[in-house]
Amino acid sequence: MEKVLITGGCGFIGSHIAEKLLGLSYEVAIVDNLSTGSIHNIDENRLSFFKCDIIGDQFEEVIKKYQPDFIIHQAAQTNVLKSINDFLYDEKVNIRGTLKVIDLSRKYRVKKIIFASTSAVYGHPKYLPIDTSHLADPLSPYGASKYASENYLKLAKKLFNIDFTVLRYGNVYGPRQNASLEGGVVSIFSNAVSNGVRPTIFGDGEQTRDFVFVDDVVSANIQALRYGSGEILNISYGAQTSINQLYRNIQSISGTKVEPIYVNARPGDIKHSLLCTKKTTDTLRWHPKIDIKKGLSKTLDFYH
Ligand SMILES: NC(=O)c1ccc[n+]([C@@H]2O[C@H](COP(=O)([O-])OP(=O)(O)OC[C@H]3O[C@@H](n4cnc5c(N)ncnc54)[C@H](O)[C@@H]3O)[C@@H](O)[C@H]2O)c1
Repeated sequence: MEKVLITGGCGFIGSHIAEKLLGLSYEVAIVDNLSTGSIHNIDENRLSFFKCDIIGDQFEEVIKKYQPDFIIHQAAQTNVLKSINDFLYDEKVNIRGTLKVIDLSRKYRVKKIIFASTSAVYGHPKYLPIDTSHLADPLSPYGASKYASENYLKLAKKLFNIDFTVLRYGNVYGPRQNASLEGGVVSIFSNAVSNGVRPTIFGDGEQTRDFVFVDDVVSANIQALRYGSGEILNISYGAQTSINQLYRNIQSISGTKVEPIYVNARPGDIKHSLLCTKKTTDTLRWHPKIDIKKGLSKTLDFYH
């Protein structure tokens, strides 16, 4: 049985990847320091869990003992605002953490690293849909640290022949996303609606995002275990949804009449986003399956 180690496997996306891999008869281990993830997101009886920081020395002991074939690297400092207020911490977890993953993969002969990157590496789009040849010009230390990690992975392949696939996720949503953290507008809206609280919309709500349901992100990670070598790929549904449309969909699915509160737009927020996933489909034989309405129903079921 092939062994997959997931860093950040107790988090939103990592825990869904773990669940799917177990169903596909992979042997799974998780390394997580539980800084934002939760032990309740995983089934400890079916996998090996190591409470450990990827920056700490204990991480090497885990890799040495477990000898994974693959590492799916999800662990990160994911909060954009925090990355601005404390970019040394962001650098420590996101850049040095990835370097630790690379270094240990070299030492213990891991076959491939699958890396969770982000569409935040692009910054303000020069054109839509954004393909992976688009200029990378991040607007936050978070985007910059992910971009730096991608570049280290490219170097590691050239210098040490460590294989990788980088997956640049769009706006991921789905069950278990932490509404108390930044970035998950769907979880924030769903949570607000479930509690009868009016959610806040920044600006006029006509800004668009390319939302992707977590199951489609999971299937891309699984495909990347088999296919692709050294590519950077976008992971998204490939449709633009405005924040107003998103909220109207949530209202109609949940039957709520609660109206949002509009406040000033946040400086630096991009106006539109749409990712081109053609290269991903060709490389990974992957296609997103869950459209926004289906994905929102599944997400709202979870929040209710
Ligand atoms: N959610 C999104 O919309 C989105 C979009 C683009 C990229 N991503 C990337 O996907 C990955 C997963 O994101 P998520 O939304 O599941 O976030 P999350 O916060 O739910 O998961 C991150 C996990 O990493 C763990 N972690 C953090 N620092 C660690 C450390 N030093 N050592 C060990 N574990 C550590 C946390 O406890 C958590 O379980 C991240 O790399 C993130 O940057 C997410």
